[in-house]
Amino acid sequence: MPMNTLRLQLRFLVPLGITLVAAAYLALPLMDRLTLRWYSRDLTLRGTLVANALSDSVAQSLAHPAAPQLQTLLNRAVQDERLVAIGLCSLDGRLLNKTAGFPASLDCGAAQQTSAGAEPLMQLPSGSVQVGFYPVQADAGPVANLVLLHDHSFIDRRSQDTRRYLVGLIAVLGGTIAIITVVVAQLSWRGWISGTRALLRGEGLLRPLLSPKPELAPIAADLRNRLRDLEDEIRRASGASVPWNPERLRSLLRTTLRGDEIIVVSNREPYVHEATPDGIVVKRPASGLVTAVEPVMRACSGTWIAHGSGSADRLVVDAGDHVPLPPGSSEYTLRCIWLTAEEEQGYYYGFANEGLWPLCHVAHVRPVFRESDWNAYHVVNQRFADAVVREARSEDPVVLVQDYHFALLPAMIRARLPRATILSFWHIPWPNPESFGICPWRREILEGMLGSTILGFQTRFHCKNFIETVDRYVEARIEHEHSIISYQNEDTLVESYPISIEWPLAAATASQATVERCRARVFEGLGMTADQKLAVGIDRLDYTKGILERMDAVERLLEKHPQWIGCLVFAQVAAPSRAALDEYRMFHERLVKLADRINGRFGSPGYRPVHLLATHHEHEAVTELFRAADVCLVTSLHDGMNLVCKEFVAARDDERGVLVLSSFAGAAREMTEALIVNPYHVEECADALQRALVMPEAEQRERMASLRMTVREFNVYRWAGRMLADAGRWRMRQRVEARVQRHHVA
Ligand code: F6P
Repeated sequence: MPMNTLRLQLRFLVPLGITLVAAAYLALPLMDRLTLRWYSRDLTLRGTLVANALSDSVAQSLAHPAAPQLQTLLNRAVQDERLVAIGLCSLDGRLLNKTAGFPASLDCGAAQQTSAGAEPLMQLPSGSVQVGFYPVQADAGPVANLVLLHDHSFIDRRSQDTRRYLVGLIAVLGGTIAIITVVVAQLSWRGWISGTRALLRGEGLLRPLLSPKPELAPIAADLRNRLRDLEDEIRRASGASVPWNPERLRSLLRTTLRGDEIIVVSNREPYVHEATPDGIVVKRPASGLVTAVEPVMRACSGTWIAHGSGSADRLVVDAGDHVPLPPGSSEYTLRCIWLTAEEEQGYYYGFANEGLWPLCHVAHVRPVFRESDWNAYHVVNQRFADAVVREARSEDPVVLVQDYHFALLPAMIRARLPRATILSFWHIPWPNPESFGICPWRREILEGMLGSTILGFQTRFHCKNFIETVDRYVEARIEHEHSIISYQNEDTLVESYPISIEWPLAAATASQATVERCRARVFEGLGMTADQKLAVGIDRLDYTKGILERMDAVERLLEKHPQWIGCLVFAQVAAPSRAALDEYRMFHERLVKLADRINGRFGSPGYRPVHLLATHHEHEAVTELFRAADVCLVTSLHDGMNLVCKEFVAARDDERGVLVLSSFAGAAREMTEALIVNPYHVEECADALQRALVMPEAEQRERMASLRMTVREFNVYRWAGRMLADAGRWRMRQRVEARVQRHHVA
């Protein structure tokens, strides 16, 4: 029996016991007095009867004193077991006759006096006797008095017997009431009564046992709402006043999350080991995800599970497929998952990048959905879920699931580790319900994602789209006020966490060359002269990035403002990406063609207006380009966030350079000091480029200083910190709710 049930029952039983003892304490003396009074009255009546019966014979004997019968008469009368002794007194108080047991100390006067008292008793060595004094009547009137001594000790015996019966009766009664109380309490607390009733109504028996008591449900709901309000307030209050840095993130992990282990899951690995003729080369992939998550992992340690896609990855892992990273400093562990070519084709190229990627970006490339891709996606998600379970050292790890490659993973992890805190982050946009609705497996994807404890998107707008999509296609309860979706008794908090980059920058990047030095090197590399202007674009080679549109804008600028011909160079770094897909190969070809066309139109010997650098550039080279540039063009057609613009700003500690930014990148909401453009509008983009190229230094400085403040404040540690803090609060709320639930069911 649970302790609290026992306690509740004692609350009834203790007062019951006290009441019974008090009742016994009050009732027993009263009972004594009553029985004594009843028996005394009986003895008095009995004495009157005996005296009346003896009266005639005694009167005759007194009338003939010579006759010997008087003594015999009295002796025969005391043979009655209750009659102890008899004495005969004359009318003037002399003792005329007496039987054997009559006490020598008792004379007629004392006997008359005692019998008239409230308690007509006297003590003899054999016990107490009741003294009665009765007249002996003749025809002429009273002739003598009889003193009858009745045994009184039997009354004491009977009184004790009665007391025993009474105590027994009270004890039995008390016991019976206690048992009934306990049984009734048990029945009602356990809900058996309602269970029985429910059963009679045709409902299940178990539900009332497990579910909360209905009368407490409003209190529990109120409590839950208050906890959520409190959380919302804390989230709003935890603004940017205290700077986020690796140390703050680490201390959050130690305190709010009590040092719980962190597992990150992403498709892309943070470092790729490639086999080259010169040996193994380690590369940082061109990935916003890696740019953001890697510094967080360096701060938090833990395990990062990712696809081992490098040609030399298998050569560097241990027997458990682990490799310590970053190379040389071992701050966290990478666990590689190996995929077959078919798996990679179906899950990564197929479902993720031919299906979900265009579906979510709505960039006018038709999504392709194949059953075989979907099956591979399912299988690979399950393989990663198995790896999470294997890597978890506790029942309740904090798992950070990254991006659209793993929509099914949250529910798969939840099924195996129900107590895990699963934070999923969707790096790309979430479309409106109509657009998403064309996915044949929309329901499965939503159900998979709703396995998350917290589901993060880049912007509130994407959260809203997701919630509306769930509302459209899944039977779930949505608390719009708190942005919580309840699906199959599990809650998911849907929140926006704008992703960002590392700030302060890692030591290696911080000790970069001066802007002048970078500019000199880059200009030399591109064959530029110092008086020329440089605009840069740095992206993965992807049709969502608006690279064609940006080149169109450069071309239009040269048409509109021919003074820039010969004076402006546009360098586009396009890191090869998903080149196995036709769409990407065709896109690359279109880019090459467009660059050639512009160069053919406006180029001249020694002057090439567009440089298309479709090769992988390491982070240092990218930073050098950023620092060398006058303008950075980020013209995504649709982007979850876009970290290139933030990296550009971070690289410009000289507070120079102008950012032209697409209004369709999530970053446009934060980076309002950029020149915001619609990339589909070529005139607007060309005008913005013109404005950037002629922007006075003071304005550049003002805008850049403000942008840098934003990125510094809203850095990647804040992104991770806010999510982990919400996870910590969520874990605490679950603990409180579990306690409430326990009381509630009890
Ligand atoms: O935008 C989504 C994203 O995961 C980014 O984080 C990253 O820049 C890109 O996709 C990586 O693509 P991939 O891993 O396919 O090269």
